[in-house]
Amino acid sequence: MTSDEHNIKPTDLRGILKYVPMFRDHVFVLAIDGSLVAHENFQNVLLDIAVLRSLNIKVVLVHGVGHQLKALAEQKETAISDPHGELETDAVTLELATEAAAMVSLEVMQGLTRNGLRCATCNGVRSKEIGIFEGKDQLSSGTVDKIDEVLFNKLLDADTIPVITPIAFNREGEPLRINSDLLASELASKLKASKLIYMTTQEGLQISGQPLTNLPVADLEGLIETTKQMPTRLLSKFKHAAKAINVGTPRAHILDGRLFGALLNEIFDKVGIGTMVYSNDYQSIRRAVTADAHSIYNITQNGVRTESLRERSQESIAATIDDYLVYEIDGSIVGCVNLKIYDSGDIAEIGSVYVQAFYQNKGVGRKMVEFACAEAQARGSRRAIAVTTQASKFFSKVCAFEEGTVNELPVERCEDYAQNGRNSKVLYLDL
Ligand SMILES: CC(C)(COP(=O)(O)OP(=O)(O)OC[C@H]1O[C@@H](n2cnc3c(N)ncnc32)[C@H](O)[C@@H]1OP(=O)(O)O)[C@@H](O)C(=O)NCCC(=O)NCCS
Repeated sequence: MTSDEHNIKPTDLRGILKYVPMFRDHVFVLAIDGSLVAHENFQNVLLDIAVLRSLNIKVVLVHGVGHQLKALAEQKETAISDPHGELETDAVTLELATEAAAMVSLEVMQGLTRNGLRCATCNGVRSKEIGIFEGKDQLSSGTVDKIDEVLFNKLLDADTIPVITPIAFNREGEPLRINSDLLASELASKLKASKLIYMTTQEGLQISGQPLTNLPVADLEGLIETTKQMPTRLLSKFKHAAKAINVGTPRAHILDGRLFGALLNEIFDKVGIGTMVYSNDYQSIRRAVTADAHSIYNITQNGVRTESLRERSQESIAATIDDYLVYEIDGSIVGCVNLKIYDSGDIAEIGSVYVQAFYQNKGVGRKMVEFACAEAQARGSRRAIAVTTQASKFFSKVCAFEEGTVNELPVERCEDYAQNGRNSKVLYLDL
């Protein structure tokens, strides 16, 4: 695909706006390869970062130095031990890496400043020596010892982008070289980022000629095992993305930053431009079976009492049990959702969303709605609708639905809507 096919048009701005409340105050860790800082499109990447900041997304920027380190070594005709901070780092390489880090950091800070953005370098990451690995002393190569969460959060709360170089001091104040992919992954986990985004100057991964747009982390781990020819630099990012996801970062993205608007398209376009890896968030959701009708009836009674849900008998739930999905924790059903696909048109209704009080505000409702939407899409629906009395803001702000009117309803639902007198709001999401 060309970058033109993905460019966000002004008319898409409304589409972007629905993501604003979704991402407000979320932390995104952005890892930018040194080669991208040197690329002509870097100026546009900076503009994209300014857009993220204007939407109140908190950005932590980690940059690499491999490209600049290799260039410096060539210029000085010096042999270096490893440009990427993965193997051992000898004294000469450390010296050049420190010089490269200062140069890149300066360039990044200058670019952010030109775009009116506050930024700061800091010693919020403490390193420690890797030591001896596979019988070999890794010299000045380091890994993350400690991340000063308080310092990072203070900077982020002060509208400041922390700019992190892959050289960090150990407890004694000695500089060590850390691989920037690893650094970004650790920061994403520690700062509870909702996205870890690697921006490279490499084409995305393709499998059998098809670009890999999104995949669950388990599939990625399978691919890492089986795909022998994955380019080394991409492999490093995929491995660190998988690591972050396995310890709680919900999503990681790997994209070719040379493409105009890659960052914004990846975040705000439904299809995206790179590869998104996501956690197996939905493993607690399953189709309901007849034996679940009793539990669904019981847990939804509270919703019926407060008029957020319509009354349904246990028999009617059992009769339409195939339309229900349930969220199970330790063998108990804590939430449910009803997915009804209408015969006419391509519309699916997401209804009877209910989460037991104790489990509310933990992302269960959002995951069930997302899962139901994906299921509806897989079954050919083009639009999901929700008809709700008390949760319209949940659908719009949390699940990115848009407010609609009764005209959005399929014909066979209109009569019921007119007669039941609930005066519910109608929302929709194009799938
Ligand atoms: C609506 C409901 C399903 C949401 O489930 P949940 O698991 O608590 O929601 P999540 O954890 O995924 O999302 C939490 C977010 O939704 C918001 N939210 C939840 N219910 C809301 C409501 N009725 N109105 C506005 N916002 C709501 C929370 O404030 C929170 O926002 P934040 O992330 O900005 O802090 C759940 O609250 C519920 O069962 N409510 C009663 C039944 C109901 O009204 N169902 C809808 C019938 S169609």
